[in-house]
Amino acid sequence: MKITFCCTDAKPEPWLQGFSAALPGAEISVWQPGAPQADYAVVWAPPQQFMDEQPGLKALFNIGAGVDALLKLRLPPHALVVRLDDAGMAVQMAEYVCHAVIRHFREFDGYEADMAAGRWGYRKPRLRSDFPIGVMGLGVLGERVAKALAQFDFPINGWSRSPKAIEGVRAFSGADQFNDFLAASRVLVNLLPLTPETADVINKDTLARLLPGAYVINVARGAHLVDDDLLAAIDSGQVAGATLDVFRTEPLPAGHAFWSQPRITLTPHTSARTLRDESIAQIARKIAALQRGEAVAGIVNPARGY
Ligand code: NAP
Ligand code: GLV
Repeated sequence: MKITFCCTDAKPEPWLQGFSAALPGAEISVWQPGAPQADYAVVWAPPQQFMDEQPGLKALFNIGAGVDALLKLRLPPHALVVRLDDAGMAVQMAEYVCHAVIRHFREFDGYEADMAAGRWGYRKPRLRSDFPIGVMGLGVLGERVAKALAQFDFPINGWSRSPKAIEGVRAFSGADQFNDFLAASRVLVNLLPLTPETADVINKDTLARLLPGAYVINVARGAHLVDDDLLAAIDSGQVAGATLDVFRTEPLPAGHAFWSQPRITLTPHTSARTLRDESIAQIARKIAALQRGEAVAGIVNPARGY
């Protein structure tokens, strides 16, 4: 069995060593133009040339959860596309989002500024019941995030394509229930995949439907958010602030208005990182299962976009 590795931004040696240890007998090498046909590929942002030269692939393993960039390419005709299925990302996402919500809710930025200025003062405690949180996307990451937030006794709303029953979460589904979901939420957390249906989903209209003094946490993809609409909603006071981890262009260009808006907290696409050892173990298990003719989780439906 041959495995080819084509991941921009990842040092290949530790991945190759990890796969060799996990799949003894497999031949694994870094893809180069003209490389021989492989059975399986481990990829992140491969070039179109890679796809064109590997028409016989049985499966492509994406070393991330989001496959939006991969699905823009012409794929090998019979290859399954398999995304990372948690692999240590869900707990990181739960930490990140809980941190962002709690920092905002408890006004820790304000306290930090006060203490730095030598001011000792209390702010009026806010009511959790005034901060219903809406989680868009209740998949592998969104469900974990919603459950983690529920531990802090916030009212939690969730929105997904298909109906869900998750303890502690008021579930909304489908386009029909989107406006009701928004109207019931003050904090909006985005964990949707980027698809033609979800692009620009956080826009002027969406933001206006949230409870006033809303807060936005975007940890999915930059193209979900209309940047200027968020900035205008902050200027108008409809949105109190935002925590953004993902951007239309990454790195976020120098001079972008987000850099200088004090109500926006920025991080460099780091809310849930791919963890190498967990990812190798998961992909190796799935390759072994496919070799035995068994089904695996995390298969992407290219027509649906996730
Ligand atoms: P997932 O398991 O595929 O879950 C996607 C969720 O979105 C599902 O609940 C799905 O509904 C829902 N959904 C999809 N299209 C929808 C639509 N049109 N309307 C309503 N709901 C819709 O994905 P995941 O593993 O949780 O990851 C989510 C995204 O997080 C990834 O695609 C990626 O972009 C992003 N991500 C970011 C980072 C980071 O570091 N910032 C790290 C990892 C992932 P159903 O359940 O009904 O199918
Ligand atoms: C990161 O953004 C991922 O999709 O895994």
